Amino acid sequence: MTNDPSVTECRALALFGATGDLAQRMLWPSLYALDCDGLLPQNFRLVGAARSQQEREPFIARVREAIGQSANAALLEDGRFSRFAQRIEYVAVDTAKAGGLDAMKAALGDGRGGVIYYLATDPQQFGPICRAIEAAGLSHANNRIVVEKLIGTDSASAHETNEAIAAAFSESQVFRIDHYLGKEAVQNLLALRFANSIFEPLWNANAIEQVQITVAETVGVEGRWAYYDRAGALRDMVQSHLLQLLCLVAMEPPAGFTPSAVRNEKVKVLWSLRPIIGSEVRENTVTGQYIAGFCGGSAAKGYHEEAGATPNSETETFVAIRAEVNNWRWAGVPFYLRTGKRMQKRLSEIVIQFKPAPYNIFASIGASLSPNTLLISLQPEEMITLTLMNKKPGMHDVRLGEVGLNLSLGDAFGVARRRIAYERMLLDVLNGNSALFVRRDEIEAAWRWVDGIIEGWRSTGQKPRPYGAGSWGPSSAIGLPERYGHSWHD
Ligand code: BG6
Repeated sequence: MTNDPSVTECRALALFGATGDLAQRMLWPSLYALDCDGLLPQNFRLVGAARSQQEREPFIARVREAIGQSANAALLEDGRFSRFAQRIEYVAVDTAKAGGLDAMKAALGDGRGGVIYYLATDPQQFGPICRAIEAAGLSHANNRIVVEKLIGTDSASAHETNEAIAAAFSESQVFRIDHYLGKEAVQNLLALRFANSIFEPLWNANAIEQVQITVAETVGVEGRWAYYDRAGALRDMVQSHLLQLLCLVAMEPPAGFTPSAVRNEKVKVLWSLRPIIGSEVRENTVTGQYIAGFCGGSAAKGYHEEAGATPNSETETFVAIRAEVNNWRWAGVPFYLRTGKRMQKRLSEIVIQFKPAPYNIFASIGASLSPNTLLISLQPEEMITLTLMNKKPGMHDVRLGEVGLNLSLGDAFGVARRRIAYERMLLDVLNGNSALFVRRDEIEAAWRWVDGIIEGWRSTGQKPRPYGAGSWGPSSAIGLPERYGHSWHD
């Protein structure tokens, strides 16, 4: 195997887990949208693979149905879909059996380069699938492999999975997806920081008081109990999405917008995270698990009542952490991270709160000042808001109020359609651009930090506290920033 994954054009994508939840909700709809936009190469083939034996026609009907239920449903149209369907084949695979990829091999023709393997399966299958691809002679140097999270459940298992992948593919062929990096507003964070000069002088501990990263969901485990119960909020969301967002906020300017320059800077942030170990978890982390309540106006079951639940599970569905980045830029600045299922609102945002004004000259007339904040909203709206103190217009005494300078990306650039993050990620894989994908050392550095917290929970016996579905997590989560004189931006 050479180290050169470059191909002039990819000619096929083999999707393992083609009938699974991720493929149905995100991948088929994203591939379809790319096709509608003319972004798939001519004659590009899509080989869906799963364990069950099934005919092509019902499989394609299922793909169509999935697109119809997705965020890209409006794009569905008979002519376009039948052109898309011509690209699709279905093969049954069994990686536990010798020759279990024969059907895929036949579908991929001579099996030479230009094939993207997308592993949208249970992560425990990554090793066996890579071994089967290698054994079938399908791991050519100019093929690519895309793997979903979770890669491992701790450092040791992540290392093992990465080794299994590395036995069949060189690092430059591997695209580890974190779909948060495909969100428009997340990519815009790089532009905001590194294409404008006004932020850089302020982007450090001298001017910034605290940073908050919240990813709140109203959904529960959505029928994924078996996966979720093994993961929990820390592994499912913090180890990947929240730490990646933290990296983009905290990283130094990269030497260029190249995959290695961007990823070199991100991994340095992960190495600089102050470990939270042993009894420190008590001060710096809060965990919770939802119980029955009301969410989005309707009754919601508790975690233990979800389909497939095992009673007495102690898996956390909410976690809040006070993290610190130990380097010159960020020393002493808390990064509050918070994520949970069945929260009051669906909301993903990054809040940068600047230091308060050093002295309030308006105090004598009874006016108080709020610190400036830069709010980067990822969901439900993509919006950037900088709040500033202003004088309220009028002839009365000076009265002050906060006003937000708002930038709605959709309005500013006339975005016609909000894309599924996977569309961008798939296009980057096709183009061989790995800047928005997570490198092996990043995954392993993130796990080392997460391992410390998990071990701290174990050694201190910290258990998740109950919180009602439709709330903002357990009440102790509110106390976490308050201990340091801060409060959540709700
Ligand atoms: C996935 C997690 O990675 O991200 C899910 O496994 C979570 O549990 C999802 O629901 C959230 O993604 P988004 O894009 O809907 O915020």
